[in-house]
Amino acid sequence: MRFKDKVVLITGASRGLGKAMAEGFAEEGAKIIVSSRKLDACEAVAASIKSRGGDAIAIDAHLGSTEKIDILLTKVYSQVSKVDILINNAGINLGMASLSDTTVAMFDKMISVNLRGPWYLSSRIAPKMGDSGGGCIINILSIAAMISPPNMGLYAATKAALASLTEVMAQEWSSLNIRVNALAPGSYRSEMTNSAIESIEGYEQSLIDAALIPRIADSKEILNPVFYLATEAYTTGTTLVADGGVLAKR
Ligand SMILES: NC(=O)c1ccc[n+]([C@@H]2O[C@H](COP(=O)([O-])OP(=O)(O)OC[C@H]3O[C@@H](n4cnc5c(N)ncnc54)[C@H](OP(=O)(O)O)[C@@H]3O)[C@@H](O)[C@H]2O)c1
Repeated sequence: MRFKDKVVLITGASRGLGKAMAEGFAEEGAKIIVSSRKLDACEAVAASIKSRGGDAIAIDAHLGSTEKIDILLTKVYSQVSKVDILINNAGINLGMASLSDTTVAMFDKMISVNLRGPWYLSSRIAPKMGDSGGGCIINILSIAAMISPPNMGLYAATKAALASLTEVMAQEWSSLNIRVNALAPGSYRSEMTNSAIESIEGYEQSLIDAALIPRIADSKEILNPVFYLATEAYTTGTTLVADGGVLAKR
């Protein structure tokens, strides 16, 4: 019960890594705020956590809208007195596209969900975290932030920018006793990965071949690195990589 009495707000928690983290933190005693755009999907995750003796509430929010984030925060603080751990996990990749094929609409959507949302949510929560004695923020990146692969340029750029913001957040909020770190996973099974595998021939094998551990991970394998960042570690302002050795193999 490493996270007993802790409140953890996880964006994009209705499926994939967010859901795995919601269930994992709940099993370790935390109260979970499950958030994504679809309330029914969040409620299903919260109900499943509660059916196993855990504690969770569901609140929907579109991270691409600052107004919706304001409403999320109002709902959060009407139900809990503090948030100890914020995990900015919700992220989108609108498919493979070269820079020339990327439209302004794609650019704006990716930036608003992958970058502006985490910045806005974190910057509104940080003072409240400080008021309640501190906490921690974890930004979910991708090793795409370090590799900058062709046809994923915009996705990679949003994640690289979030890595940069992670360092700034850590510096600006250390006086509030808030640690801020990022996690950069390699490929794991999720709807995001599956849709790319289904649409691009040979993509699955290319992911497997890229790693020193030659397989695609399960989202549950990403949990322990997140737990490390969420515990009272002497770690802030950095990015932890969990990529099966992709960066090393390059
Ligand atoms: N899959 C991988 O191999 C991989 C590798 C490295 C990094 N990542 C990163 O890990 C994070 C989680 O990815 P995943 O693979 O678990 O994705 P996923 O299965 O596609 O899940 C994405 C989650 O984000 C929510 N979401 C999407 N758009 C949103 C929005 N505008 N506002 C609020 N919530 C939104 C979705 O729920 P709703 O549809 O209900 O909104 C869902 O809960 C992302 O940041 C991704 O970039 C993934």
